[in-house]
Amino acid sequence: MGQRVDESGLKISGLRKTYRGGVQALNGVDLTIESGMYGLLGPNGAGKSTLMRTLATLQSPDEGYMTMDSVDILAEPNRHRQNLGYLPQHIGAYPGISARNLLHRFAWLKGFADTVARNYEVDRLLEKVNLVEAAHRKVATYSGGMMRRFGIALALIGSPRLVIVDEPTAGLDPEERNRFHRVLSDVATYAVVLLSTHIVEDIENLCRELAVIQQGKIVVDGSTKDLIAQWTGRLWTKTIPHGEQIPQGSLHLSARPDGTRMVLEGEAKPDDGFEAHRPTLEDVYYLALLNAGQGTA
Ligand SMILES: Nc1ncnc2c1ncn2[C@@H]1O[C@H](COP(=O)(O)OP(=O)(O)OP(=O)(O)O)[C@@H](O)[C@H]1O
Ligand SMILES: [Mg+2]
Repeated sequence: MGQRVDESGLKISGLRKTYRGGVQALNGVDLTIESGMYGLLGPNGAGKSTLMRTLATLQSPDEGYMTMDSVDILAEPNRHRQNLGYLPQHIGAYPGISARNLLHRFAWLKGFADTVARNYEVDRLLEKVNLVEAAHRKVATYSGGMMRRFGIALALIGSPRLVIVDEPTAGLDPEERNRFHRVLSDVATYAVVLLSTHIVEDIENLCRELAVIQQGKIVVDGSTKDLIAQWTGRLWTKTIPHGEQIPQGSLHLSARPDGTRMVLEGEAKPDDGFEAHRPTLEDVYYLALLNAGQGTA
């Protein structure tokens, strides 16, 4: 009676935040993430970073409740932070000290007081993000990709159970992006990884589950595979040659070398010019926004 059941994973309920000036950035967010890599997808200004900063205890919600592995995040922020890694969307300027040195300082702050243990942790992280060779260099001289990798190393100090990464692959070349994804996939074997992005393809490749957020509300969430499968047989496509009028009613349009490809939703094929379209996560994303009352295309 009255006994608390230990639950693993992240639980968010009724999270609200209105900024001064009146922007409702979070409008009643409920989410449950049990394990692995979870994708958070949404247009600019949807509230992704606000949600992530709130989970990282960098700002407070107006209302709501959040737990990670049964720890009440708002009531016990310090306990939560011990098990948290956060890579912000905009990385500030790093001071002109070496990556190894900076990692040591942050590891110390995270409780690695013992020099041997701290050395071991710093070496492990440098290895993981492939920065061993460049560890002596000042972080301020790193390229964008190296900076991101360094950022994830900071976020992974102490193997936290919750890792939050806010648009981590923006501006990375394909090789760096792949490398980054491999590190995250590995981390997701022991942690909950919450990944926000505009790049639908990243989520399709990496995340078994996702949520689409729009104007501070979750408009769809669930298994990536199931969300895609539910549109099988209900989407149609046609390529309109460049220069020709594009018919109304598209779910989304994309430029192709031979014309503009339109995708639309319907019970049956609109006309012989159309063919069946195999649903993708991009379609799920646009359908979610459309059904939430915000049209596109
Ligand atoms: N500190 C702030 N003060 C006032 N309004 C803010 C603040 N931070 C964010 N907002 C507003 O809150 C809304 C949500 O912003 P947020 O940064 O969370 O969105 P986002 O989904 O991360 O967007 P993006 O994809 O562009 O990074 C936006 O309308 C934004 O302008
Ligand atoms: Mg953002």
